[in-house]
Formats: sequence, structure tokens, C-alpha cells
Amino acid sequence: GVKPSLSVELSNKGFHRLEVVTTVELGSETPGDVRALLVYTWPRGVYVDPYQLAFLSDLRGWQMLFNTTIDLEEPAHRTSAFLTYVYPSHNGPTPGPLTVTIPIHGRYHKPAFDGKSFTPVHIELPELLLWTKKCTPIQRLEPHTLLDAPCNASNTSICSWIKIQLSHKVCTTFLHLPVGDGPTVTLVCTGTLLVTVICCAVLCHSILKHQIT
Ligand SMILES: *[C@@H]1O[C@H](CO)[C@@H](O)[C@H](O)[C@H]1NC(C)=O
Ligand SMILES: *[C@@H]1O[C@H](CO)[C@@H](O)[C@H](O)[C@H]1NC(C)=O
Ligand SMILES: *[C@@H]1O[C@H](CO)[C@@H](O)[C@H](O)[C@H]1NC(C)=O
Repeated sequence: GVKPSLSVELSNKGFHRLEVVTTVELGSETPGDVRALLVYTWPRGVYVDPYQLAFLSDLRGWQMLFNTTIDLEEPAHRTSAFLTYVYPSHNGPTPGPLTVTIPIHGRYHKPAFDGKSFTPVHIELPELLLWTKKCTPIQRLEPHTLLDAPCNASNTSICSWIKIQLSHKVCTTFLHLPVGDGPTVTLVCTGTLLVTVICCAVLCHSILKHQIT
């Protein structure tokens, strides 16, 4: 049957190199012309750097659209959550899993008054949406929800995407970002954002509960 699954991992590749790795398996019976879209809601505590993405654009096989402009300097309490639309694509001829590795950065956090030096930032799982030209088993998924979103990263047209219900979201991912007291303030004031401790690597593995035959 059509059984997409999705998993997300956080990885810390060293100073300033924090990545959210999403793997999507569409399943062998999913028609080859199906396109996938991942919609991420990012908390205000982190940002994705559009310039860094542009720089990496030759290396990655996916495109990203932001729903807002990103200010790289603002502290967490002066920004808000934002959405990104990610269009993954297959790199090779064989339809294996789609992998998207998104570099993220922690924002400066206002000092807390409870003496804690780290604050948890919750990273949510993305929504998985699928689109196909023809009538396929995916469109017979019951119940299905349609969601309008840009067809591709050029944002020139809007498509009706099918929202895939993932059966369980039992796990959560937290980033632990330093809050601005003591030496951290000094670092932030010199223009450096420090992301030190990352907890929780593997979190979720959700499998679509509907099976089509
Ligand atoms: C796509 O384009 C429309 C119209 O120009 C704009 O209102 C919308 O914010 C854009 N969406 C994204 C995600 O960039
Ligand atoms: C972008 O998405 C976030 C999260 O859903 C929302 O709070 C925010 O208002 C959106 N921004 C714009 C400019 O649409
Ligand atoms: C996006 O879709 C439009 C029309 O659907 C197409 O003309 C355009 O070439 C596509 N852009 C990319 C980058 O695939």
C-alpha cells in the first residue's frame, strides 16, 4: 500500500553547525510522479539562514521557501515563529528515501530569572504533503485533507496538496539554548550565537496508518 513515513533527527556537527535531518520514505507502491512537500513550523528560538542556504544550494537536492523575511540578529523574544516550505527531490534515478538536512541556528535568549542557564526550544515535526497530477491511490486516502500551498519553490502557482496523517507523534525534540547571563552575554554581545548542548537525537518515527490496496 501507500505508506509514507517520516523521521526527524537533530545533529550537532560542532560549533555553529546544528542540523535538522528529515527522512521521508514514500514506500515502493507510491507512484513515481508524486511530489512531496514538507512544511516546518520553526519556533522563535531558532532561525534558518537564507544566505547560508543559497550558498549550499548546489550541494543540496531541495528548495526552500520562507513565509517571512528572516532577521539574523534579532533575539528570540523579539521575533516570532515562521514557516518554511521544503521541496525535496531525488538525487539519483532510484527512488530511495528523501533526505533533507537543514542547518539551523539558535537565537539569543533573554536572561531568565530562575537561575537556569539553558532554555529548551521545541522543534516540531514537519507536515508531510503530497501532490500528484493524476488520480492515484493517494487521492483515495480517507479521510484526506487538502491544503493549498505553492506548487514549487518559485511560488508562481498554488497547488492543492494532500496532507498525510502520520499516526503518532509520541516523541519530541528539544534544543537546549544558553540564556543570556554571565559569559554568554559577553559572547552574544560580540556577535556570536552559542549553541552548546543538544539533547535528544532520534525522536520520532511515524507511519501512516492508512493502507491502500
Ligand atoms: C507566495 O507569493 C504570494 C504572492 O506573491 C505571497 O503573498 C506569498 O507570501 C508567497 N508565499 C511564500 C511562502 O513565499
Ligand atoms: C508565518 O508562519 C507563522 C507560523 O505559522 C505565523 O505565525 C506567521 O504569522 C507567518 N508570517 C507571515 C508573514 O505570514
Ligand atoms: C514551478 O512551477 C511552474 C509552473 O507550475 C513552472 O513554470 C516553473 O518552471 C517551476 N519552477 C521550478 C523551479 O521548478
